[in-house]
Order: sequence, then structure tokens, then C-alpha cells
Amino acid sequence: MRTPFIAGNWKMHTTVAEASALVRQMKERLDRMEGIEKVVCPPFISLAVIRQIIQGTSIRLGAQNMYFEEEGAYTGEVSPLMLSALCDYVILGHSERRQYFGETDQVVNKKVKAALKAGLMPILCLGERLEEKEAGKTEEVVTRQVRGALEGISSPQGLVIAYEPIWAIGTGKAATPHDSNETIALLRRRLAELYGEEVAQGVRILYGGSVTASNIAGFIEQPEIDGALVGGASIKAEEFLSIAEQSAAIKKGK
Ligand code: PGA
Repeated sequence: MRTPFIAGNWKMHTTVAEASALVRQMKERLDRMEGIEKVVCPPFISLAVIRQIIQGTSIRLGAQNMYFEEEGAYTGEVSPLMLSALCDYVILGHSERRQYFGETDQVVNKKVKAALKAGLMPILCLGERLEEKEAGKTEEVVTRQVRGALEGISSPQGLVIAYEPIWAIGTGKAATPHDSNETIALLRRRLAELYGEEVAQGVRILYGGSVTASNIAGFIEQPEIDGALVGGASIKAEEFLSIAEQSAAIKKGK
């Protein structure tokens, strides 16, 4: 059994004061939720303070990105070692990083390796663009991305994957639960080819892209979908709490 997983990607939103207030608003209810892993991923500058606020709770902390070198003259970058002292997870290969900051599968692969080496669990994001979907290339694209990101990695300890069709991110146009389930099943088969069935069955694979409190149930009811990576709705306390509560209740009932 895979523990369901809900993560909030706050993106480039919230000052330190706002981030602290947001996590305080959600802390008690998130902490009480059982049978589900709950992760918040605020901007780098808020990680340390949020770590203090959630200390002693069941809420886990994630970063949104990192560089692959351990340390050195890389002005403005944040290293795996710095993050592993603060958080458990790191989002890698998000489509916004690929699109606006030129991250390729090769770069994502280096980051995934560096994260695992530092004891951080990667939340590896992948997904097709609209043109690729329309050209019937979804399978080909996500296969290339997952193989590329995991190349040379013999044991993906703690890996979480987020399937996020790019056309569904921040657009209000979520994919259908059925299609997402199919693509996630395909990703699990690809993992089985790389690591065997047992490892593949243990990897959490999430859906991401315009998840809200109104549509989460449809996704979480699918057998292959283990949770969600939530963007916009994760910085609205009530909305995120509802997404996590519904997910825990639905998976518990299965
Ligand atoms: P969204 O973002 O929920 O705002 O669509 C999801 C993501 O980018 O992870």
C-alpha cells in the first residue's frame, strides 16, 4: 500500500510573513490528518522559519528547486546539502523550470542524483505540452522524461513522481481523471522496466494541474493516482485543507 501524498507548491508566492501566517492557519488540521502525507513547499527564504513552525507536527517540508552541485561559486543557487538540513523533499523538473529556466532532462537527471545523494526525496515533475498531446505523443514524451531523469540511478529511494500535463497547469483546465490514471499507469510500467515490479509498486505517482477542492475526488478515486501536487489552490488554506482531507478519506475508504 502506498501512503497517499498531497503536496502544495507555493511557487513564487508569499513573503516570509505571509508564508508563516499561511502555514499557521493550516497547521493544526493538517497535523491531525492521518493516513496521508502532507507536504508544503514554500519559497526558499521561508523554509527555515516554516520548519520551526511545523516542528513536532506530521507536516513535512519541501523545496521547489535546487542546484546539483554541493557547494561552490554559484551565485544565487541553493545546494542539496543546504536543503537536506531543512527539508525532506525537493520538487525537481517542474515545467516552469524547464520552460523559463532552460532545464533539460539532463539537468533534471543531475539534480535528481544530487538530491538522492544528499538524502532528499525528489518530487520529479514531468508532463507533455498541448501540441504533444494533440499529436498523440503523450506516451513518448513522458517515457523520454522519466527515463532521462532517472538515467544512471540504480535505486530511486523515496522518489515521488508528479505527472503534470503542461496545458493543465495554472489554466483551470485539469486533465480528466481517466486519462491521468492511464498515463500514470504507463509511468509505473516504465518504472517497472527500470527497477522491477516491486519498486515500481512502491513509488507514489501524483497528478498535478489545476487541482482544486472541487475536482480532487475524481483524481484520488483512480487506483494509480496516489495524490496531487497542488499549485494555485495550495496557498488558500481552506482549499488545501479540503483537498488533503478528501484525499485521506477517499483513499481510506478503498
Ligand atoms: P496548479 O499548479 O495547481 O496551479 O495548476 C500545479 C503545479 O504547477 O504544480
